[in-house]
Amino acid sequence: MFRKIATASFFFLTMYFISYAQPKDMIVINTQHVALVFKIDHQQVLQVYLGEALKNEDSYAAMPVTGSLQSYSTYGIANLFTAAIRVTHADGNPSLNLEYVSSHSEKINDDISLTTIHLKDPAYPFEVTLFYKAYFKEDVIEQWSTIRHQESSPVTLHEFASSELYLNAKNYHLTQFHGDWGEEMQMQNSELSSGIKVIDSKLGTRADKYDSPCFFISLDKASTETSGHVLAGTLAWTGNFRLLFEIDNQDKLHIISGINPYASEFYLKPDTTFTTPAFIFTYSNHGKGQATRNIDRWARQYGLPDGNKPRMTLLNNWETTYFDFNQDKLLHLFDQAKELGVDMFLLDDGWFGNQYPRNNDHAGLGDWQANKKKLPDGIGYLVKQATDRGIKFGIWIEPEMVNPQSDLYHEHPDWIMRLPNRPENYQRNQLVLDLANPKVQDFVFGVIDSLKTDYPGIAYFKWDCNRTFTDPYSPYLGKNQSAVYIEYVEGLYKVFKRVREKYPHLPMMLCSGGGGRVDYGALPYFTEFWPSDNTNPMDRIFIQWGYSYFFPAIAMCDHVTGSGNYSIKFKLDVAMMGKLGFDMRINDLKPEEVTFIQKAVKTYHHIAPVIWYGDLYRLLSPYKNSRAALMYVAENKQRAVVFTYLLHQKLGDNYTPVRLQGLDADKMYRIEEINLPEGQQSHCPESGKILSGDYLMNEGIHAPLHGDGSSAVFELSVE
Ligand code: GLA
Repeated sequence: MFRKIATASFFFLTMYFISYAQPKDMIVINTQHVALVFKIDHQQVLQVYLGEALKNEDSYAAMPVTGSLQSYSTYGIANLFTAAIRVTHADGNPSLNLEYVSSHSEKINDDISLTTIHLKDPAYPFEVTLFYKAYFKEDVIEQWSTIRHQESSPVTLHEFASSELYLNAKNYHLTQFHGDWGEEMQMQNSELSSGIKVIDSKLGTRADKYDSPCFFISLDKASTETSGHVLAGTLAWTGNFRLLFEIDNQDKLHIISGINPYASEFYLKPDTTFTTPAFIFTYSNHGKGQATRNIDRWARQYGLPDGNKPRMTLLNNWETTYFDFNQDKLLHLFDQAKELGVDMFLLDDGWFGNQYPRNNDHAGLGDWQANKKKLPDGIGYLVKQATDRGIKFGIWIEPEMVNPQSDLYHEHPDWIMRLPNRPENYQRNQLVLDLANPKVQDFVFGVIDSLKTDYPGIAYFKWDCNRTFTDPYSPYLGKNQSAVYIEYVEGLYKVFKRVREKYPHLPMMLCSGGGGRVDYGALPYFTEFWPSDNTNPMDRIFIQWGYSYFFPAIAMCDHVTGSGNYSIKFKLDVAMMGKLGFDMRINDLKPEEVTFIQKAVKTYHHIAPVIWYGDLYRLLSPYKNSRAALMYVAENKQRAVVFTYLLHQKLGDNYTPVRLQGLDADKMYRIEEINLPEGQQSHCPESGKILSGDYLMNEGIHAPLHGDGSSAVFELSVE
C-alpha cells in the first residue's frame, strides 16, 4: 500500500527506518507491483520514482531529487516546460507557486488506499490537492486533482491537468490508437522525439473518434505482449481531452493528461472547487499483456457497473430493418430471437416521433413517444410480447440530440446549442441539446426515467450520441462560453449519475456513432459499449484487438451481422471473443446456418464466464501476422478459451503451432475444438487430447486454419 511517512508515526519509524536519510519527507504510493514515490524538497513535492515497486521500500530514500519533476508543475516560476496548471490570479498575476502543506493516507478497504497531497501558493489563497487512489491487487492508480481559492474574484484557469508523471529512459516508444467512423482503435507505434507530442480531441460530446485517450509508453525499447517496461494510461473523461508528452533537456519524459484546455478558460469563483477527471494508469515490467490484465481486472471490479456479473446475448434489428419496421415485423424478430436462443431483443432507432415520425435520420429526435403508425399498441405491448416469449426487451435512445423536424425543437428553442447570428450546422441532420442547462438535464434524465416508469419491463437501454460539437454555444452559459466543453460533460455525468442512482443494475450500452464514446468517464455508468458500426468480421478483428488493450471483453458488444462475405462460423468466432450479439436477417440464412447459430449460442453461454471474467492473453497480433490469436484464462486456471483466425492465407506460409500463455504448467488440460458447424470434425491434432500446461505453453496447438477468413476456437479444461 502507500505510505506517507509522517511525524505522527515517528516512534514507529525510528524503530524500523532509523537508517533513512529523510524518510519523513517521502510519500510512497504503491500497489502490489507498482510504486510512485515523491520527495519533499524545499517545500516542493518532486517525483523521484515511477515503476515496478521495489522489494525494499528503504531504497526509495536513496533516490536523487530532480527539481523540475514537480508533482504538479506550475507556470510562471522557473518552469520552462509545459505546466500542469496555469492560472491568472484575481489581481492579474499570471504565476503560481505550489508548496507542500500536508499529505494524508487513508486505507479505504483491503484493496484501496487514498493518498492526498495538499499544496498551496504562499503568496495567494490558492490551493491544489492531488489525489492518488491506489488499487493494490489490480496494480492500478487513479490520479486527479482539485483546485480552490479564496481570492476576491474569479481566478482564470488556463491549464488544469488531471495528472503529471515523469519517466526516465534512453528513449520512449508511444503506442496510441487512431481511427474514424468504422475504423476505430487502430494501433500506431512511434518513437517519441524531442519536443512535444499531443494526442487530443475537440469533439465536445465524446472523447474519441479520431484519437482515443488510451496510450502506452514503453521505456528504452518497444515493449511486446510479454516483455518490456511499459506505462499504460487513459483519461476518464467523455469530452475534449489532451495527453501531452514532452521530453525535457535531461531526456526525461513529462506526461501531462487532462481535459483539453483548448478554448476552455475556466473562471473559478472563490470557494468553489474545480475537480479534474481521473487519469488511470498501471505499470508493467512484463509488457503490454500484463498491463491489459491489470486494467481489465480493475475495470471489472471498479470501472463498470456489475463488471463481475453476466451480460445478455441479444438480437438487434438495426442492420436488419434500419428504420423500416412495424409491430408485426418486430414480433417476427422476437420469435427469431427466441429461436436463436439469445436472452434479449434490442429495438434500435426509428420507434418514436408522431408529428415528425422517425422514418429516417431527418426527423423525430427529441420526441420520445412511440410512433403510433409503426407501433399501434405501443412499447408496453412489445415488452409484454417479448416477455411472453421468454426473452427480455431493450430499446435505443439518443436523448442528448434534436432534429429540427421535431416538436422538441419548436417547443424549446433555448435548449439547443447553436451559434448566434449563424446558420445552424447539422451532423446527421441533428443538433446537440444544451446539457449545461439543468432543465435539459431533467429532460434527458426524463427520457429514460419515463420509459422505465411507464414500462418497467424494459430490461436494457442502448444510449447513442451521433454527433460532435461543431458550433459550441450554450444559450444557458450566456457570456461564459469558454466553459461550454466542460459544463456539457459535467451535465452529462449528472444525468448518468441520476440514472444509476435510480436504476443501479440496469444494463446499458454506451454507443456513439459506433465507438465514439468509449472511455472510463462514461463506462462506470454503462455495462457495455458498442465498438464500431463496422461489423465486417475481418475489420472487426483489428478494431476489437485495439479495444482489447484497455477494455475488457465483458463490456465489448460484438455482433454477428450480414456485413462481409464470410462464413457464419468466422463471424461467430470473431463476435464470440467479446459479448456476443446478432444483428442479421435470419430469414436469409440456410436452415443449417440457423441450427449452427443455435448451437453456437449455447456454446457461448457455456464458455462466456471464461471470456467475461478471465485474463486475456494476446498471442498472435494481426498487425504482424497473417493470423491472429488470443485466449482467455479463468483466474483459477482451470479453464481457458483460445480463438485463432486466419486473415489472409499466403502461399507457402508454414503455420507454426500457436503457443499458449497463462496456463498452469503443472495442470493437465483437455483440449477440445469447439464451435464447429454441424457434422464437421476437428482437424486439430491436439483436439481431444489431454496435455500439460507446460506442453501447451512451449509447444502449442496446431490451429487448423485454411483459407482467408477461417477460424478455430478451443476450449481447455483441467481434467
Ligand atoms: C448509430 C449507432 C448504430 C445505430 C444507429 C441508429 O450509428 O452506432 O448502431 O444504433 O446509430 O441510428
